[in-house]
Amino acid sequence: MKKLFLFVFFVHLNNLFAQQLDPAIESKVNALIDQMTIEEKIGQMNQYNGFWNVTGPTPKEGDAAEKFQNLASGLVGSMLNVRGVEEVREVQKIAVEQTRLGIPLIIGFDLIHGYKTVSPIPLAESASWDLESIKRSAELAAKEAAAAGINWTFAPMVDITRDARWGRVMEGAGEDPFLGSQIAIARVKGFQGEDLSLPGTIAACAKHFAGYGFAEAGRDYNTVDIGLNTLHNMVLPPFKAAADAGVRTFMNSFNDLNGIPSTADRYLQRDILKKDWNFNGFVVSDWGSIREMIDHGYAKDRKHAGELALKGGSDMDMESLIYIEHLKSLLEEGKVKVSEINDAVRRILRVKFELGLFEDPYRYCNETREQLVTGSKEIVEGALDMAKKSIVLLKNHDKLLPLKKKDQKIALIGPLAADKNSPLGNWRIAAENESAISLLEGMKNYKGNELIYEQGVRLINKIPAGFHEEVDINEDDYSGIEAAVRAAENSDIVIMVLGEYGFQSGEGRSRAHIDLPGLQQDLLEAVYEVNKNIVLVLMNGRPLILNWADEHIPAILESWHLGSQSGHAIAQVLYGDYNPSGKLPMSFPRSEGQLPIYYNQKSTGRPGANGGDNGSVFWSHYGDEKNSPLYPFGFGLSYTTFSYSDIQLSNDIMNDGEDIIASVIVKNTGNKTGKEVVQLYLKDHYASAVRPTRELKGFELVELKPGESKKIEFKINRQLLSFYNALGVWEAEKGDFTVFIGTDSNTKRKASFVLN
Ligand code: BGC
Repeated sequence: MKKLFLFVFFVHLNNLFAQQLDPAIESKVNALIDQMTIEEKIGQMNQYNGFWNVTGPTPKEGDAAEKFQNLASGLVGSMLNVRGVEEVREVQKIAVEQTRLGIPLIIGFDLIHGYKTVSPIPLAESASWDLESIKRSAELAAKEAAAAGINWTFAPMVDITRDARWGRVMEGAGEDPFLGSQIAIARVKGFQGEDLSLPGTIAACAKHFAGYGFAEAGRDYNTVDIGLNTLHNMVLPPFKAAADAGVRTFMNSFNDLNGIPSTADRYLQRDILKKDWNFNGFVVSDWGSIREMIDHGYAKDRKHAGELALKGGSDMDMESLIYIEHLKSLLEEGKVKVSEINDAVRRILRVKFELGLFEDPYRYCNETREQLVTGSKEIVEGALDMAKKSIVLLKNHDKLLPLKKKDQKIALIGPLAADKNSPLGNWRIAAENESAISLLEGMKNYKGNELIYEQGVRLINKIPAGFHEEVDINEDDYSGIEAAVRAAENSDIVIMVLGEYGFQSGEGRSRAHIDLPGLQQDLLEAVYEVNKNIVLVLMNGRPLILNWADEHIPAILESWHLGSQSGHAIAQVLYGDYNPSGKLPMSFPRSEGQLPIYYNQKSTGRPGANGGDNGSVFWSHYGDEKNSPLYPFGFGLSYTTFSYSDIQLSNDIMNDGEDIIASVIVKNTGNKTGKEVVQLYLKDHYASAVRPTRELKGFELVELKPGESKKIEFKINRQLLSFYNALGVWEAEKGDFTVFIGTDSNTKRKASFVLN
């Protein structure tokens, strides 16, 4: 009993620290609520898209005039996609000067990976496993966006994803809840800083709550059907970590989770988030997700959808325009309570006070600051630094890389080699088109070699003008291949830049076939016929299927969509001025048939003899494909090599209240300084609910000079061994554990202990 009390006390204390209330702010919020009419309260719960840009289905004609009118009447609490000091000042001025109470707007924006200066897509940044750098990247993005009038980002996306067909894998941290949680914390702290009212900090948003990354068959917006075990052990941990790190907002998701649209899910939003986790910020719906409950077949009509959403814990309505239309009559009819409306409004006003918007609604609106900060040296250098750290070396046969700096004839080939758009990736709404440094430009900085460029396969315009310049990779025009082959024939080395164009991954961009799109595979094979010295540089927003390339191409570099500084970062890695140290945050499958694929699978009853075929077909496998991925989670090479000692455990029994220290000595055995991500995995052998075959539970990024070694220690305690068990309780269960420490999720180096 005493122990239980202590546990509850600590949980409570922990939550208090995470989501502390400021009494001064609370009394201001209460005083303001007391003055507000019901219309004004509902207005605070209403979020409109700006009139300049959209990230979802376009609003109906005529909406804009009505929206302006509502803004002036105090019926709008927030706007999104309004950006730049001039635009923000225009709408803020209406809210502050024309409405009765002058409540400022909170201005939201999808600051997913940088503002005007674009940093690597989140999946790429996650491949750095470098938490300080990820935090710094979010900090710089916040600084640039805050100078342009924005005070709230719809990031980080913390959805765990196991299916590379889903286009939004580019927006998250990959497949692992432990890595995902650490990255969620880093991003929240980066965006929000120590004090939200400081000029360069903005409110963050953990999204999409919850389960969106488990969209069935990887098809965006599709249904999600997962049990409580997966929900609590895999999906929720990064959200909990974000809440504990003090994230000020949550966004719910488009999907239904086990039959309930998340937008109306009381269990998620009211019981778990607001009650168990003590979250005191606010929840915004996803774009139109309140209205979409009608299409889900969950709400009868718009009014019913509004009722279900508020009851379910959605505090702000993004672009459904339903709260403003129906909440008042729902209240009059007794279908919702004024206390529910007050609670939502209190949460929204609280965050506005914390941002300092009441003190100075124009604190984000300073033209001089906007000019000084946008594209500043500090921010551009930060984007370059993050880009280099995000690159993963997948293969380097016979040390083809790094390239020699002199007297080489290099052919640079591929549709993405000179492309100044694709490296910007998806979700780069504020960036100028054509503003990335292409690899061709990056390579030109190295003047000692002769460089020839051939596109090989053309990019074709898909959407000629408009919001985004979209292209496609040619599927039927072979005409450029011959020139590329000729260029390769006469070169010492060929660098081929292939992958996905910038908008081929992202929201609404699911793919059923995740190989190299268009004629790129034909181009690769044609070039290989005449020159086998190929370095394949990949640009993509998701794991791709690369079996042929892995078998034939000597060097493969995963460079994702790296943002504004892409070409410089890749060139520096190719030439060895930066030694790559990235590790994959998602498994790369061998074929789509393996999906979803992830390293932390549960044990089956038929794992196969010695993990392989024992001659019988009656084990969990495919008749025509291996079980293993092509490249496992956590995998990545370096231009140097590392050796690991055996694992030392401080004890092989863990008694109550004790920790075990697991250590290894890691040595740089090559001849270049390099960084290694030392990874700790644990296996819980038997428990009240089936456990994964192994789970990441720690990692450390260590830099070592040639010949240098370092002892790396991990503390293993009960908290690390806890999981959501068959009784629905987070606890560690007694039994046998194996510790693995090594260079990726396949590591065989192990030791064991018993938990008493
Ligand atoms: C996306 C969100 C995004 C919102 C606003 C939606 O379509 O799912 O992630 O924040 O649009 O742009």
